[in-house]
Amino acid sequence: MSKPWLPLLLGIFVMTAGCDDMHDQVAIQPQEAPRLSAPAEAVPVTGKERLIFGQQQNNPQANSAESRQRGAALYTINCATCHGGKDNYPNQVGGHFNPPPPNLRDGHLAGYDEATLYQMFSLGFGRMPAFQLRLSVEDRWHLVNYLRSDD
Ligand code: HEC
Repeated sequence: MSKPWLPLLLGIFVMTAGCDDMHDQVAIQPQEAPRLSAPAEAVPVTGKERLIFGQQQNNPQANSAESRQRGAALYTINCATCHGGKDNYPNQVGGHFNPPPPNLRDGHLAGYDEATLYQMFSLGFGRMPAFQLRLSVEDRWHLVNYLRSDD
């Protein structure tokens, strides 16, 4: 080899490269700008919906055809994968549950009062996920109108 000292020089370079004072490196100190805002669901910035299971809630959405239509669209997007529809129960995901999620389109939900229904899917229970943070208050009442109908 014509330059036998080269590996030695490289070795010294690599070994000394990490010897800078770490104290002087660029770093963001606690509370220093720019600060990231908290994740949307971490801090209630717009006031929080107060929901207590069993406490009466009144449905502010008139049970109109438009409301039920909106509820139907929301149902297809958020619920049908597990609960299925009138003609396809249980659906793709629901079919893998044992036992499968109850069929919500067979009419048995008419037996629940609106508040109970609203709270069941807002707060979730057992294997049923909560939708309080996923859907607006208004949309959840549209869903209630749809769920209790025959549409
Ligand atoms: C990840 C699958 C899944 C999704 C998505 C889902 N559910 Fe459920 N749901 C379940 C399961 C499982 C149960 C049964 C809970 C148990 O017994 O643990 C259930 C139960 C329910 C019940 C109680 C039914 C009864 O007969 O007592 C209601 C009401 C309900 N879900 C509404 C909804 C609504 C409305 C949506 C959409 C906004 C929805 N669910 C989305 C899985 C799901």
